[in-house]
Amino acid sequence: MVYLNGDFLEKDKAFVSVMDRGFLFGDSVYEVLPVYEGNIFCFKPHLHRLSESLEAIKIPNPYTNEKWRMTLQQLINYHPQHTNQSIYLQVTRGCDTDRKHTYGKLKPTVYMQSSPFEAVRKEDFLSGLSAITRDDIRWSQCNTKVTSLLANVMYAQEAKQNNVEDVILCRNNIVTECSSANLFIVKNGCVYTHPKGPHILPGITREVVLECADYYNINTEEVTISKEDLLDADEVWISSSTREVLPITKIDDVLINQGKVGGIWPLVFDRYQVEKSLNS
Ligand code: PDD
Repeated sequence: MVYLNGDFLEKDKAFVSVMDRGFLFGDSVYEVLPVYEGNIFCFKPHLHRLSESLEAIKIPNPYTNEKWRMTLQQLINYHPQHTNQSIYLQVTRGCDTDRKHTYGKLKPTVYMQSSPFEAVRKEDFLSGLSAITRDDIRWSQCNTKVTSLLANVMYAQEAKQNNVEDVILCRNNIVTECSSANLFIVKNGCVYTHPKGPHILPGITREVVLECADYYNINTEEVTISKEDLLDADEVWISSSTREVLPITKIDDVLINQGKVGGIWPLVFDRYQVEKSLNS
Protein backbone atom coordinates (compact mmCIF):
# COMPACT_ATOMS: atom_id res chain seq x y z
CA MET A 1 0.00 0.00 0.00
CA VAL A 2 1.08 3.55 -0.66
CA TYR A 3 -0.31 6.87 0.57
CA LEU A 4 -1.35 9.57 -1.86
CA ASN A 5 -3.13 12.79 -0.87
CA GLY A 6 -5.23 11.29 1.91
CA ASP A 7 -5.79 7.80 0.50
CA PHE A 8 -4.11 4.45 1.06
CA LEU A 9 -3.95 2.63 -2.26
CA GLU A 10 -2.28 -0.31 -3.96
CA LYS A 11 0.89 0.98 -5.62
CA ASP A 12 -0.41 0.23 -9.13
CA LYS A 13 -3.57 2.26 -8.42
CA ALA A 14 -1.73 5.43 -7.34
CA PHE A 15 -1.30 8.07 -10.05
CA VAL A 16 -0.01 11.64 -10.13
CA SER A 17 -1.01 14.12 -12.83
CA VAL A 18 1.40 15.02 -15.65
CA MET A 19 0.73 18.62 -14.54
CA ASP A 20 2.34 17.94 -11.18
CA ARG A 21 5.34 20.22 -10.73
CA GLY A 22 7.22 17.39 -9.06
CA PHE A 23 7.09 15.59 -12.42
CA LEU A 24 7.60 18.64 -14.65
CA PHE A 25 10.29 20.49 -12.69
CA GLY A 26 11.46 18.26 -9.85
CA ASP A 27 9.76 20.95 -7.76
CA SER A 28 9.53 18.90 -4.59
CA VAL A 29 11.28 17.72 -1.45
CA TYR A 30 11.56 14.33 0.22
CA GLU A 31 12.61 12.34 3.26
CA VAL A 32 13.68 8.74 3.81
CA LEU A 33 12.84 7.45 7.30
CA PRO A 34 14.03 4.11 8.67
CA VAL A 35 11.56 2.06 10.72
CA TYR A 36 12.82 -0.63 13.09
CA GLU A 37 10.32 -3.07 14.58
CA GLY A 38 7.46 -0.70 13.77
CA ASN A 39 9.10 2.44 15.27
CA ILE A 40 10.36 5.34 13.21
CA PHE A 41 14.00 6.03 14.08
CA CYS A 42 14.66 9.75 14.68
CA PHE A 43 11.13 10.85 13.78
CA LYS A 44 11.54 14.40 15.11
CA PRO A 45 14.81 15.23 13.31
CA HIS A 46 13.40 13.87 10.04
CA LEU A 47 10.23 15.95 10.41
CA HIS A 48 12.28 18.98 11.32
CA ARG A 49 14.46 18.59 8.22
CA LEU A 50 11.33 18.10 6.09
CA SER A 51 9.87 21.36 7.37
CA GLU A 52 13.19 23.14 6.69
CA SER A 53 13.32 21.75 3.13
CA LEU A 54 9.72 22.85 2.52
CA GLU A 55 10.45 26.28 3.92
CA ALA A 56 13.62 26.62 1.81
CA ILE A 57 11.67 26.18 -1.43
CA LYS A 58 8.54 27.90 -0.10
CA ILE A 59 6.08 25.03 -0.16
CA PRO A 60 3.64 25.36 2.75
CA ASN A 61 3.88 22.35 5.08
CA PRO A 62 0.63 20.52 4.27
CA TYR A 63 0.37 18.63 7.59
CA THR A 64 0.95 19.21 11.27
CA ASN A 65 3.59 17.03 12.94
CA GLU A 66 0.78 15.06 14.58
CA LYS A 67 -0.85 14.38 11.21
CA TRP A 68 2.52 13.32 9.74
CA ARG A 69 3.11 10.93 12.63
CA MET A 70 -0.39 9.47 12.41
CA THR A 71 -0.28 8.99 8.64
CA LEU A 72 3.20 7.48 8.73
CA GLN A 73 2.12 5.10 11.47
CA GLN A 74 -0.91 4.04 9.43
CA LEU A 75 1.34 3.32 6.45
CA ILE A 76 3.75 1.35 8.65
CA ASN A 77 0.83 -0.65 10.09
CA TYR A 78 -0.23 -1.69 6.59
CA HIS A 79 3.06 -3.65 6.35
CA PRO A 80 3.27 -5.76 9.53
CA GLN A 81 5.12 -8.47 7.57
CA HIS A 82 8.14 -6.14 7.26
CA THR A 83 10.07 -5.96 10.53
CA ASN A 84 12.12 -3.06 9.19
CA GLN A 85 10.85 -0.56 6.68
CA SER A 86 12.24 2.35 4.79
CA ILE A 87 9.64 5.05 4.27
CA TYR A 88 9.96 7.35 1.28
CA LEU A 89 7.98 10.56 1.69
CA GLN A 90 7.64 13.24 -0.99
CA VAL A 91 5.86 16.59 -1.06
CA THR A 92 5.56 18.37 -4.41
CA ARG A 93 4.38 21.93 -4.95
CA GLY A 94 1.28 20.46 -6.58
CA CYS A 95 -0.48 20.55 -9.96
CA ASP A 96 -1.03 23.60 -12.16
CA THR A 97 -3.17 24.00 -15.27
CA ASP A 98 -0.21 24.37 -17.61
CA ARG A 99 3.58 24.05 -17.59
CA LYS A 100 5.14 27.32 -16.57
CA HIS A 101 8.15 28.03 -14.39
CA THR A 102 6.34 30.39 -12.04
CA TYR A 103 3.60 29.25 -9.71
CA GLY A 104 0.62 30.58 -7.80
CA LYS A 105 -1.20 29.07 -4.87
CA LEU A 106 -1.28 25.28 -5.31
CA LYS A 107 -2.27 22.30 -3.20
CA PRO A 108 0.86 20.24 -2.42
CA THR A 109 0.89 16.58 -3.46
CA VAL A 110 1.83 14.22 -0.64
CA TYR A 111 3.12 10.76 -1.45
CA MET A 112 4.53 8.06 0.84
CA GLN A 113 5.60 4.49 0.29
CA SER A 114 7.09 1.80 2.46
CA SER A 115 9.75 -0.69 1.33
CA PRO A 116 11.07 -3.60 3.35
CA PHE A 117 14.67 -3.19 4.34
CA GLU A 118 17.15 -5.44 6.02
CA ALA A 119 19.05 -3.96 8.92
CA VAL A 120 22.76 -3.75 8.25
CA ARG A 121 24.70 -6.81 9.54
CA LYS A 122 28.14 -6.06 10.89
CA GLU A 123 29.59 -9.38 9.73
CA ASP A 124 28.87 -8.42 6.10
CA PHE A 125 31.18 -5.40 6.30
CA LEU A 126 34.25 -6.66 8.17
CA SER A 127 36.36 -6.45 5.00
CA GLY A 128 35.22 -2.91 4.21
CA LEU A 129 33.88 -1.45 0.97
CA SER A 130 35.29 0.44 -1.99
CA ALA A 131 34.50 3.92 -3.32
CA ILE A 132 35.64 6.19 -6.11
CA THR A 133 36.11 9.98 -6.06
CA ARG A 134 34.59 12.48 -8.47
CA ASP A 135 34.20 16.26 -8.72
CA ASP A 136 31.11 17.52 -6.92
CA ILE A 137 29.19 19.34 -9.66
CA ARG A 138 25.95 19.69 -7.66
CA TRP A 139 24.28 23.02 -6.91
CA SER A 140 25.01 25.08 -3.79
CA GLN A 141 21.90 24.23 -1.83
CA CYS A 142 22.70 20.60 -1.03
CA ASN A 143 21.36 21.11 2.50
CA THR A 144 17.81 21.14 1.11
CA LYS A 145 16.52 17.64 0.46
CA VAL A 146 15.07 18.21 -3.00
CA THR A 147 14.07 15.46 -5.42
CA SER A 148 16.04 17.07 -8.30
CA LEU A 149 18.75 14.44 -7.92
CA LEU A 150 20.10 14.08 -11.44
CA ALA A 151 23.76 14.55 -10.47
CA ASN A 152 23.34 12.15 -7.52
CA VAL A 153 21.65 9.61 -9.80
CA MET A 154 24.51 9.80 -12.29
CA TYR A 155 27.11 9.35 -9.53
CA ALA A 156 25.19 6.40 -8.06
CA GLN A 157 25.02 4.75 -11.47
CA GLU A 158 28.74 5.30 -11.96
CA ALA A 159 29.35 3.65 -8.57
CA LYS A 160 27.23 0.70 -9.65
CA GLN A 161 29.07 0.36 -12.96
CA ASN A 162 32.40 0.46 -11.14
CA ASN A 163 31.16 -2.10 -8.63
CA VAL A 164 31.83 0.18 -5.66
CA GLU A 165 29.61 1.25 -2.76
CA ASP A 166 29.43 4.95 -3.59
CA VAL A 167 31.09 8.00 -5.12
CA ILE A 168 32.92 10.37 -2.77
CA LEU A 169 32.45 13.95 -3.94
CA CYS A 170 35.16 16.63 -3.91
CA ARG A 171 34.48 20.33 -4.37
CA ASN A 172 37.71 22.27 -5.00
CA ASN A 173 39.73 19.50 -3.37
CA ILE A 174 37.43 19.49 -0.31
CA VAL A 175 35.62 16.22 0.33
CA THR A 176 31.93 16.96 0.87
CA GLU A 177 29.85 13.76 1.04
CA CYS A 178 28.73 10.85 -1.17
CA SER A 179 25.97 10.51 -3.76
CA SER A 180 23.51 9.50 -1.03
CA ALA A 181 25.45 9.40 2.24
CA ASN A 182 27.58 11.57 4.52
CA LEU A 183 31.27 10.94 4.96
CA PHE A 184 33.60 10.66 7.97
CA ILE A 185 37.30 10.11 8.35
CA VAL A 186 39.25 9.07 11.42
CA LYS A 187 42.81 10.30 11.93
CA ASN A 188 44.86 9.71 15.08
CA GLY A 189 41.75 8.79 17.05
CA CYS A 190 39.67 11.85 16.09
CA VAL A 191 36.55 11.64 13.91
CA TYR A 192 36.19 14.37 11.25
CA THR A 193 33.26 15.25 9.01
CA HIS A 194 32.36 18.18 6.75
CA PRO A 195 30.60 21.01 8.63
CA LYS A 196 26.89 21.56 8.00
CA GLY A 197 26.21 24.15 5.32
CA PRO A 198 25.13 24.45 1.69
CA HIS A 199 27.54 21.79 0.39
CA ILE A 200 26.20 18.75 2.26
CA LEU A 201 22.90 17.29 3.32
CA PRO A 202 22.65 17.52 7.12
CA GLY A 203 22.20 13.77 7.53
CA ILE A 204 20.16 12.53 10.45
CA THR A 205 22.43 9.47 10.66
CA ARG A 206 25.46 11.80 10.65
CA GLU A 207 24.20 13.32 13.94
CA VAL A 208 23.66 9.89 15.49
CA VAL A 209 27.14 8.75 14.40
CA LEU A 210 28.67 11.85 16.05
CA GLU A 211 26.69 11.06 19.22
CA CYS A 212 27.94 7.45 19.10
CA ALA A 213 31.56 8.69 18.96
CA ASP A 214 30.82 11.09 21.84
CA TYR A 215 29.51 8.17 23.85
CA TYR A 216 33.03 6.68 23.86
CA ASN A 217 34.61 10.12 24.50
CA ILE A 218 36.14 9.99 21.04
CA ASN A 219 36.86 13.52 19.80
CA THR A 220 34.79 14.72 16.85
CA GLU A 221 35.40 17.76 14.67
CA GLU A 222 33.22 19.25 11.97
CA VAL A 223 35.85 20.69 9.64
CA THR A 224 36.65 20.58 5.94
CA ILE A 225 38.65 17.55 4.82
CA SER A 226 41.00 17.69 1.83
CA LYS A 227 41.28 14.87 -0.66
CA GLU A 228 44.81 14.22 0.63
CA ASP A 229 43.43 13.91 4.21
CA LEU A 230 40.83 11.47 2.91
CA LEU A 231 43.35 9.20 1.22
CA ASP A 232 45.69 9.38 4.22
CA ALA A 233 42.94 8.62 6.79
CA ASP A 234 43.11 5.77 9.31
CA GLU A 235 39.43 5.04 8.72
CA VAL A 236 36.73 6.26 6.33
CA TRP A 237 33.01 5.72 6.96
CA ILE A 238 29.82 6.64 5.18
CA SER A 239 26.41 7.07 6.81
CA SER A 240 22.78 7.21 5.78
CA SER A 241 19.36 6.18 7.06
CA THR A 242 19.37 2.99 5.01
CA ARG A 243 23.09 2.13 5.22
CA GLU A 244 23.60 3.19 8.86
CA VAL A 245 27.40 3.51 9.19
CA LEU A 246 29.68 1.53 6.87
CA PRO A 247 33.47 1.33 6.53
CA ILE A 248 35.32 2.18 3.30
CA THR A 249 38.74 0.58 2.93
CA LYS A 250 39.58 1.34 -0.70
CA ILE A 251 39.20 4.67 -2.52
CA ASP A 252 40.10 4.81 -6.21
CA ASP A 253 43.27 2.70 -6.18
CA VAL A 254 44.34 3.62 -2.66
CA LEU A 255 43.95 1.27 0.30
CA ILE A 256 42.81 2.90 3.56
CA ASN A 257 44.49 1.44 6.65
CA GLN A 258 46.15 -1.12 4.33
CA GLY A 259 42.70 -2.24 3.26
CA LYS A 260 41.55 -3.19 6.77
CA VAL A 261 38.57 -1.92 8.77
CA GLY A 262 39.86 0.23 11.65
CA GLY A 263 39.22 -0.12 15.37
CA ILE A 264 36.73 2.71 15.90
CA TRP A 265 34.13 1.74 13.31
CA PRO A 266 33.08 -1.46 15.14
CA LEU A 267 32.52 0.56 18.35
CA VAL A 268 30.44 3.19 16.60
CA PHE A 269 28.52 0.52 14.72
CA ASP A 270 27.66 -1.27 17.97
CA ARG A 271 26.59 1.94 19.69
CA TYR A 272 24.42 2.79 16.69
CA GLN A 273 22.53 -0.47 17.24
CA VAL A 274 21.89 0.58 20.85
CA GLU A 275 20.67 4.01 19.72
CA LYS A 276 18.25 2.27 17.35
CA SER A 277 16.77 0.26 20.19
CA LEU A 278 16.49 3.32 22.48
CA ASN A 279 15.11 5.85 20.03
CA SER A 280 11.70 6.19 18.47
N1 PDD B 1 19.86 9.84 1.17
N2 PDD B 1 23.81 12.97 1.78
C1 PDD B 1 23.01 12.75 0.72
C2 PDD B 1 23.33 13.43 -0.57
C3 PDD B 1 21.91 11.89 0.84
O1 PDD B 1 21.10 11.69 -0.22
C4 PDD B 1 21.66 11.23 2.07
C5 PDD B 1 20.51 10.30 2.29
C6 PDD B 1 22.53 11.50 3.15
C7 PDD B 1 22.31 10.88 4.51
O2 PDD B 1 21.19 11.44 5.14
P1 PDD B 1 20.38 10.64 6.26
O3 PDD B 1 21.38 10.18 7.26
O4 PDD B 1 19.45 11.64 6.83
O5 PDD B 1 19.71 9.50 5.57
C8 PDD B 1 23.58 12.38 2.97
C9 PDD B 1 18.67 9.06 1.26
C10 PDD B 1 18.79 7.84 2.10
C11 PDD B 1 18.16 8.79 -0.14
O6 PDD B 1 18.26 9.70 -0.97
O7 PDD B 1 17.61 7.72 -0.42
